[in-house]
Amino acid sequence: MNNEKPSTGEIFEDLDPAPRLLMGPGPVDVYPRVLRALSTPMLGQFDPQFTTYMNQVMALYRQVYRTQNHWTFLVNGTARAGIEACMVSLISPGDRVLVPIFGRFGHLLHEIAARCGAEVVTLETTWGRVFEADELRDAIRQHRPKLVVMVHGDTSTTMAQPLDEVGAICREYDALLYVDATATLGGMPVEVDAWYLDLVSAGLQKCMSGPPGSSPITLNQRAAQVVERRRHIEAGIRADGTVDAAGARIQSNYLDLPMLMDYWSPRRLNHHTEATSMLYAARECARVVLGEGLEQGFARHRTASGALRAGLEAMKLRLYGDPVHRMTNVTGVYIPASVEADKVRGELLTDFGIEIGTSFGQLHGKIWRIGTMGYVCRKANILRCLTALEAVLRRNGFASDAGAAVDAACAVYDVYDDAPA
Ligand SMILES: Cc1ncc(COP(=O)(O)O)c(C=O)c1O
Repeated sequence: MNNEKPSTGEIFEDLDPAPRLLMGPGPVDVYPRVLRALSTPMLGQFDPQFTTYMNQVMALYRQVYRTQNHWTFLVNGTARAGIEACMVSLISPGDRVLVPIFGRFGHLLHEIAARCGAEVVTLETTWGRVFEADELRDAIRQHRPKLVVMVHGDTSTTMAQPLDEVGAICREYDALLYVDATATLGGMPVEVDAWYLDLVSAGLQKCMSGPPGSSPITLNQRAAQVVERRRHIEAGIRADGTVDAAGARIQSNYLDLPMLMDYWSPRRLNHHTEATSMLYAARECARVVLGEGLEQGFARHRTASGALRAGLEAMKLRLYGDPVHRMTNVTGVYIPASVEADKVRGELLTDFGIEIGTSFGQLHGKIWRIGTMGYVCRKANILRCLTALEAVLRRNGFASDAGAAVDAACAVYDVYDDAPA
């Protein structure tokens, strides 16, 4: 590829990126069926065929989220758009919001809550661990927030916060619970109804194995009532006699949930132009994931990360974080002190076409993050990654027993019948 400054008028070469195996914490390789769906012809946004697809998307994501929530739909934009839509629509200036933080994305939720004018209370724990339910209960009892916002799987630390008790605790203290499930949806259970999660948002580019750019969200009646109290319809699309709700106007127009809900309701009130191709992609992602079966998909992720971890340990590498609460779709591994972290990653990419992840903040330069998500999460890819990493590390002076990593990973696959071919 030519990186020189282009001369005026140049139209560049055809898109032809070198093949990659994306084994970072996302984005990951996209399911071929989803790539095909992306090339489906455009439809007008009020074409009955298209509105039928919108309704199907709602029905499909109810299954992915394991919820009966009527309000289950897409926000256009990457996962962060879904996060901001939920938070800006829920948080009125001055609301007290509790943000338990166990990694980078907890800090992101803090920052967004502060931008929404919330009175933010944070609870932090050491990176590499998560919160006990009692720690959360104590904080909720003490601060009595209107809203608790937290991440399910924080890819920055590779830890997954158990959520099965948190929703019930929030209800006990009359708080709403918002969860960022960007990195877990489709790869680990996200039990929206069983865990009493009031709002949840995600993205496509992790275990749903789609392209970044669409954010499936879901909210229950408790949450819908709160945002409905802030319904203000924009001037150009108001019907005569429209009465605005009494609550404070939502600061963002694009991410205003009541207006998005009007668009996703039979009223089809025109708000934005739905990102047609991304809706096709989101629909196909859900069909692939549900077609495999959620439980089968979770098992595939568990087995793959078990195999990867066995292989890394056989290479005498040390795994990062509390072993009980590791996500099953991304693994943190300490970088051996004797190698240059970016050189190893660079050689994996240029010599083997494999991308693994670096890390942020306090973990930068300390761990690599290896994703086993969605379409990528298959035995052949795990073995390819381990073989390549072993070779690159050896060439960089960190030798381990040749073949030990692959043997250890294969031994894990040998135990499970659920291993995909
Ligand atoms: C847990 C979590 N939340 C939010 C995001 C932000 O997603 P996006 O980059 O799609 O906006 C990510 C991305 O890595 C993530 O892992």
